[in-house]
Amino acid sequence: MRLEGRVALVTGGASGIGAATCRRLAAEGARVAVTDLNAGTAQAVAGELDGAAYELDVRSTASISAAVAAAERDLGPLEVLVNNAGYDEFGFFARSDEAMWDRVLAVNLRGTIAVTHAVLPGMQERRRGRIVNVASEAGRVGSRGSAIYSAAKAGVIGFTKTVAREAARYEVTANAVAPGPIETPLLMAAPEQLGEMGERLVQGMVGATQLGRLGQPDEVAAAIAFLASDDASYVTGETLGVSGGLGMV
Ligand SMILES: NC(=O)c1ccc[n+]([C@@H]2O[C@H](COP(=O)([O-])OP(=O)(O)OC[C@H]3O[C@@H](n4cnc5c(N)ncnc54)[C@H](O)[C@@H]3O)[C@@H](O)[C@H]2O)c1
Repeated sequence: MRLEGRVALVTGGASGIGAATCRRLAAEGARVAVTDLNAGTAQAVAGELDGAAYELDVRSTASISAAVAAAERDLGPLEVLVNNAGYDEFGFFARSDEAMWDRVLAVNLRGTIAVTHAVLPGMQERRRGRIVNVASEAGRVGSRGSAIYSAAKAGVIGFTKTVAREAARYEVTANAVAPGPIETPLLMAAPEQLGEMGERLVQGMVGATQLGRLGQPDEVAAAIAFLASDDASYVTGETLGVSGGLGMV
């Protein structure tokens, strides 16, 4: 019960790694605001863990402010923020277009920035906070078929380090996790979008891990819970690979 009584907000909490994180934070004692594109999908997860569900589209400042205000009103001041919402469209960069760049950057990079901007001032004022950003090994080693996503995740890692530097004097930490291939709808969309080529992309990622298998959302949630807890009180600005050794240097 490392998070007893803490209030946590998770973006993209209705599915995959986000849903596993909501369950894990709640199991460790946190009161969890499960947020996602629509409150209905978030409610299914919130209902399981006695949390609260909110609509939060990370692309919209108005949506972010409304959800953060409602969560703080219902649950109390946020102590943990997990920027997990993510999105990708698989395909080779040479054949991509600007509209796709904007869609992928808007969720993965700008969304993380915008939600942090809404939550950080309160954490700094209270001198208490843990921010965990879900980046990706794609942001460190690149990933075929995901150029813009990889650029966004590299941006998230740079952003995390700078927030860690600026917020440290307020006793707020910021860290990232870098998952490898995790069995969620996001990754499984690759074969759906690209057929056999997508299948090969996923197999290539699995082959690049040392453990030789897909990861499970719970395995990422465990790392996020660690970074959100006091066990990580002297850890900030780090990016923790949860990737079966894929990103090892
Ligand atoms: N699955 C992987 O292999 C993998 C690897 C590395 C990193 N990640 C990252 O993990 C995080 C979670 O992804 P996942 O694999 O669990 O995918 P997922 O598709 O299962 O879940 C993503 C969630 O984000 C939500 N979302 C999408 N756009 C949003 C928006 N604009 N506002 C709010 N919520 C939005 C979706 O509705 C969904 O519930 C993402 O940041 C993703 O980039 C995943």
